[in-house]
Amino acid sequence: MTVNEQVTQQLETVNFPTPPVIVVRMVQLLAQDNITSEEIGAAMALDASMAARVLHLANSVAVGGSTQVESIPEAVLRVGVDGVRDIVFALAMVGAMRPAHFDYRPFWRHSLAVAFTAQALQARALKLTEPFPETYAGGLLHDLGMLVLDRALGDRYREVLDVARTTSRPLLDVEHEMLGTDHAQAGGRMLQVWRFPQILVDAVTHHHRPWVSGQVVTRLVHLADFACNHQGIHHGTGYFPERCDPRVWDELGIAAGELPQIITEVQSELARAEAVLAAT
Ligand SMILES: [Fe+2]
Ligand SMILES: [Fe+2]
Repeated sequence: MTVNEQVTQQLETVNFPTPPVIVVRMVQLLAQDNITSEEIGAAMALDASMAARVLHLANSVAVGGSTQVESIPEAVLRVGVDGVRDIVFALAMVGAMRPAHFDYRPFWRHSLAVAFTAQALQARALKLTEPFPETYAGGLLHDLGMLVLDRALGDRYREVLDVARTTSRPLLDVEHEMLGTDHAQAGGRMLQVWRFPQILVDAVTHHHRPWVSGQVVTRLVHLADFACNHQGIHHGTGYFPERCDPRVWDELGIAAGELPQIITEVQSELARAEAVLAAT
C-alpha cells in the first residue's frame, strides 16, 4: 500500500464529530436570500447557552450605537440578520472543532480573520453584481481539512506541521510530499460527507488553486487567505508568504493597488476575530 493509499484509508475512517445542530441549521439558512429575525431566533433556540454569548459579541463587534444590546431582536438590529447568523456559526464551530496536535487559537484566529476579510473583499469587488451569503462560511471553514488530518493522522500530522514550520515552506507542499494529499482536499471531502452546499465544498477544496474553480466565493477566500497570511495572521504553523494567483484580482474587479487599504481592513477584522475567540 502506498503512503497515499494509507492516508486515504485513514481519512475515510476518521471519526470526526458531526457538525453542531445549530451549524447545520445555519448552513440551511445561508442558502436562503431573505432570512428573518424569527428564523434566527428559532435556530438560537437549539442552543440555549448561545444567546448570551451572541449578545456579548453583538455588543463587542458592532460599529456605532452606544446602547447595550440586550435581546436577539436588538442584536439583529445592531449587526443585521447576517451578522447574528455569522456570529452563531463561528461560536458553534470554534467551540466544537478543536485540534488535538496543534494550538486551536491561531488556527481559529486565522480562520475568522479570513472569513471577515473575504466579506470585506466581496464589498470591494466591482465585478460582483450581488454578494454571496456563503462567503463568510467559506472563509471560516477553508482550512477545516487541517482539523481532519490532525484527527485522522495524529502524530504524523504533527510531523508535517513541524517540517513546514522548520523549513518555512507552504504547508500544502509539505502535505503533498509527506502524505500524498492536502488539507484542502481533506476539508472539501469532510464538507461533502456533511452534505454542505457545493459552493462551500468548492471553496474549501480549491482555496489554494482558485483557477480550478469557477466560483466567486472560492476566489474571495483565496485572496482573503493571501491577505491574512501576508499580515502574519496564519494558522500557526509558521509564517511564509502565501502564493496568490494574480488573475483573481482582475476577475473580481479589485485593483492590486488596493492591497494597502485591504491590509488595513485585515487588521481591523482581526480585532473582530479576537472578540469571537474570547467568547468561545
Ligand atoms: Fe489552506
Ligand atoms: Fe488559510
